Amino acid sequence: MAIVSVALGARSYDILIEEGALTRAADHLARYARGGRLVVVTDERVAQAQLPRLTASMTAANIAIESIILPPGEKTKGWRHLETLLDRLLALEVERGDHVVALGGGVIGDLVGFAASILKRGCQFVQVPTTLLSQVDSSVGGKTAINAAAGKNLIGSFHQPSFVLVDPSTLDTLPPREVRAGYAEVVKYGLIDDPDFFAWCESEGEKLLAGAPDARSFAIQRSVSAKAAIVADDERETSGRRALLNLGHTFGHALEADTGFSDTLLHGEGVAAGMALAFRYSAHLGICPQADAERVTAHLKAVGLPHDLATAHVTAGGKELVGHMLHDKKMAAGTLPFLLARGIGQTFLSKEVVLDDVAAFLDEDRG
Ligand code: NAD
Ligand code: GLY
Repeated sequence: MAIVSVALGARSYDILIEEGALTRAADHLARYARGGRLVVVTDERVAQAQLPRLTASMTAANIAIESIILPPGEKTKGWRHLETLLDRLLALEVERGDHVVALGGGVIGDLVGFAASILKRGCQFVQVPTTLLSQVDSSVGGKTAINAAAGKNLIGSFHQPSFVLVDPSTLDTLPPREVRAGYAEVVKYGLIDDPDFFAWCESEGEKLLAGAPDARSFAIQRSVSAKAAIVADDERETSGRRALLNLGHTFGHALEADTGFSDTLLHGEGVAAGMALAFRYSAHLGICPQADAERVTAHLKAVGLPHDLATAHVTAGGKELVGHMLHDKKMAAGTLPFLLARGIGQTFLSKEVVLDDVAAFLDEDRG
């Protein structure tokens, strides 16, 4: 068992990582139940695969579970399901001091976090992430959001959870493609500022993907420790440090937009291809050793993640892809901050990137 703390003064909280923790959920979550009941929000797939373990443990501790079960998928992170969720929480008379549990991946975590931030001007919530992506990234740090017609994650808030309970064994029921997509976010932490961890990924990543408990617990702990430190330093992404977590996301977002934010390219897969492109673009600019860019591409390829436009199933040309980048919510005063790298573990934020040059690079990279 490992505990990582997010140091945010009065809003500090712990992330507890323990194989099998869900089977002992009451040990960790009973303190969040008021009047002998706890409200858990999840999606249909997670309700089938993981909710029974949580419910059994809580019932044995005489705590009733009120479950709100939403459809799976990115579309759930929208106005319609937000409204349904808020109405259900109001009908259950959830109060300001109460905790709502988000059991699921990033979709449920982001939606429940946002609902909690506005219900009666703010109630509390606990994250119980069940995908690798949510265990290493989205459940930590308090970014909550729903999608709008104009784009993804455009309506949201910063609202920190009170506690994050990570049971890596929940990944046993997650489809391998989803585990692999989440693994891209693990690799990301190595590429940002931890070259030793990237080297660990190169040698042990396959074990993690095969479900080896030691490997996945280690990777989750290392990843959330990195994220916790960044969030504690720059909670609201004002100093530029938290922006490092967006490595690969600007390219990735354009690839996701081109593939219609669909199952053709999962978010983590877009991030994987985006990170490979960010490293190759940095090498193209002459600021990153070619060998480092090749190492990044080789590892992503070795684990079966998209690493270029073709493997990301993207057909658009450079100009069109850059067009998608112009709608990025990070655009400020006509400039798009870009995450580039001086090498593995040396990511930095650049405001000097010329988008026409990016478009030309993308066409050349495809060639
Ligand atoms: P997801 O929540 O859609 O989960 C992926 C699929 O796996 C779903 O079909 C779900 O039902 C299923 N699933 C989840 N856990 C399961 C389990 N243990 N067993 C079987 N099936 C399971 O997707 P995700 O990749 O976890 O999250 C993506 C979302 O996260 C996006 O909306 C993205 O914007 C958001 N995100 C947020 C942040 C943040 O900081 N808030 C960071 C990264 C991504
Ligand atoms: N996933 C990016 C962030 O939390 O800032």
